[in-house]
Amino acid sequence: MDKFRKILCIGAGYVGGPTMAVIADKCPACQITVVDVNEQRVHAWNSDELPIYEPGLKEVVERTRNKNLFFSTDIEVAVKEAGIIFVSVNTPTKTFGEGAGMAADLQYWETTARTIIEYAEDDKIVVEKSTLPVKTAEAMHKILESNTKGIHFEVLSNPEFMAEGTAVDDLRNPDRVLIGAMQTEAGQEALRRVVDIYANWVPREKIKTTNVWSSELSKLVANAMLAQRISSINSISALCEKTDADVTEVSEAVGMDSRIGSKFLRAGVGFGGSCFKKDILNLVYLCGHYGLPEVADYWEGVVKINDFQERRFVKRIVASMFNTIANKKIAVFGFAFKADTGDTREAPAIYISKMLLEERALLRVYDPEALENARKDLAGFEEMVEYADDPYVCAEGAHAILILTEWREFKTLDYPRLFESMSKPAFVFDGRNILEHKKLYDMGFNVYPLGSSDMTRV
Ligand code: UDX
Ligand code: ADP
Repeated sequence: MDKFRKILCIGAGYVGGPTMAVIADKCPACQITVVDVNEQRVHAWNSDELPIYEPGLKEVVERTRNKNLFFSTDIEVAVKEAGIIFVSVNTPTKTFGEGAGMAADLQYWETTARTIIEYAEDDKIVVEKSTLPVKTAEAMHKILESNTKGIHFEVLSNPEFMAEGTAVDDLRNPDRVLIGAMQTEAGQEALRRVVDIYANWVPREKIKTTNVWSSELSKLVANAMLAQRISSINSISALCEKTDADVTEVSEAVGMDSRIGSKFLRAGVGFGGSCFKKDILNLVYLCGHYGLPEVADYWEGVVKINDFQERRFVKRIVASMFNTIANKKIAVFGFAFKADTGDTREAPAIYISKMLLEERALLRVYDPEALENARKDLAGFEEMVEYADDPYVCAEGAHAILILTEWREFKTLDYPRLFESMSKPAFVFDGRNILEHKKLYDMGFNVYPLGSSDMTRV
């Protein structure tokens, strides 16, 4: 087999797993191996219980696994064999040293680069898939080229734009595939090889090729701009709650302007997920580094509004529940950072729960996919937090229900039954604006939609 049909992906996480499964499905002529240092994760990918929940993913994995898609911990053999190596290891925000809380922690990336050098025996194309700060590819190129074996590594940037919960659809029908390469002959040749993989199912006009730095920066900017839209509407939701305006109506009216568009204008408890905050902080750090404090402040505002939105939500709860929630049972409906995923990284639910716990509330959490992660996120609070695998058990005896994730099933629950089982007065704080507020109010609930006036009788 042509070595460039042998593809390796290092990192079997939320990005690596689904991306490689779809490539395997769409390119039967390619042989793909996904490796990870985490043995448990690799084992799960090889089992019936995949390590991540993503609609449609199981079917794709079952179709391709052990045919042209393999999950393994044997990094050595996989590096030796592959012509193209995608790297999708985690790149969290640094928690120590220079740039702590802002810059990306590249230790996993660098370890990976050194592993590639150690085992490689011939030239390779290395593709960065993780979101990384601008100029990482250049740094990686330097590390890889420092090898003493005379091997040439061509480093490309191919950021992933899929969103969790819709990963499989996004990967099958991407708005665009972005690939950045060095403007050298070797760079352009490597670029053609990676374009050829995607061209198996993505129309050529949707495959955008750029230089490496544009590609890296575009990923940060796309995420910053998406998050900026959410912070913009969330900031307006605060104003709506003080006036007679309704943020859903405002959002719809504004979004109908075709120059603005309707997507990502849903006000809520704040954005979460592994990318938005991390990427914006990365951008902020980068701007600071290049002596652009005004630009850094501009983007930092997006994160500040997000923090404000989470705090504001908790303040409204405390204020409306007679200024104290100490020892009151609160049912948390939804812990994942968005619907259709079990992922809780940077989920607003984590911060909101912790603030409620500081107020000494007693929490009971329900989420159809994220309970396992929720337990880890709230470790240490076992005495004050319970977990329920049924929403009706979750709400029993509670003073309030908080909707923190927009799971569809929350719309169709039997609310009269929930109301009956709760302590009175019973409150609903709809942090995602997915419920029928007037109906709930008529049932007897005190209802607090996000971004419009309270509907309360006490
Ligand atoms: C994001 C980008 O969309 C994706 O292109 C990139 O590859 C990774 O980061 P993801 O974090 O998986 O994807 O989910 P996304 O759908 O963008 O949602 C992020 C957060 O914003 C969620 O917490 C979601 O609930 C929130 N959100 C989204 C809103 O609050 N309002 C909206 O209108 C849209
Ligand atoms: P993402 O959302 O970016 O995919 P994840 O944390 O879900 O992030 O996945 C990253 C994966 O990369 C993890 O499963 C982690 O174990 C793996 N990983 C980190 N460092 C290495 C390494 N040096 N070699 C192989 N896998 C690694």
